[in-house]
Amino acid sequence: MRPVIITANWKMNTTPADAGPLAADIAKATDVANVTRIICPPYTNIAAVSAAVEGTGVLVGAQNVHAEAKGAYTGEISASMLKGLVPWCIVGHSERRRDQFESDELVGQKVVQLVEAGISPMMCCGEQLEEREAGAALATVQAQVKASLETVLAAGNGLPSDLVIAYEPVWAIGTGKTATGADAAEMANAIRATVADLAGAEYAESVPILYGGSVTADSFGEFIAEPSIDGALIGGAGLKPDQMTVIAAIAAEAAAARAAA
Ligand code: PGA
Repeated sequence: MRPVIITANWKMNTTPADAGPLAADIAKATDVANVTRIICPPYTNIAAVSAAVEGTGVLVGAQNVHAEAKGAYTGEISASMLKGLVPWCIVGHSERRRDQFESDELVGQKVVQLVEAGISPMMCCGEQLEEREAGAALATVQAQVKASLETVLAAGNGLPSDLVIAYEPVWAIGTGKTATGADAAEMANAIRATVADLAGAEYAESVPILYGGSVTADSFGEFIAEPSIDGALIGGAGLKPDQMTVIAAIAAEAAAARAAA
């Protein structure tokens, strides 16, 4: 059975001074059973957050990693630098695809680096509004996932057993608009079909798929009600303990219902 996962992506918010107290508040507010809880602060606040959530069961993730193992890349962070600091790392977020021009293949190389370091990859994908309006959403996202995972496969070690895929329609991120639960579920099924083509149905069934894009306490229930969706990647609401309380409670209910089914 796939885990139910809620991940807060703090993006470029919080400071070393306030990240720890906020993480402690969120850990306390989300203290539910059978839900994997992950907080992804900026690199500079990983230490403070890790200290604050110690013993709470909350896991810490980075928001990005470099595609190369080491070298002359001023200001960048490699997977080996994150090793031992975080069990999780987001790759391929649409804000990085937009601002740093990250390609699907580069995202795949980042997954390879994380696998080598023993860090679990949370790989993002998602279509632009024009692509959805043109009826090309499924094909676009399937092509992203295929290209990234083919890059991972080309490294020769198969696909990682701890891969998580986050489907985040770009038009829904930070806009207050969400996909419908049905559209997100249709996409999750399409993503799993692509993964199954590459690595078999059994592996595809084991990969958790999260929805992201303006998830709040009000909207989360619609997504986790879909059997193909295993949780959420949460931006804005992930900085708000009161929002995360409700999201965690709904996630715990879903996890219990799935375990009983
Ligand atoms: P949002 O961000 O919840 O603020 O839309 C989600 C994300 O970018 O991961």
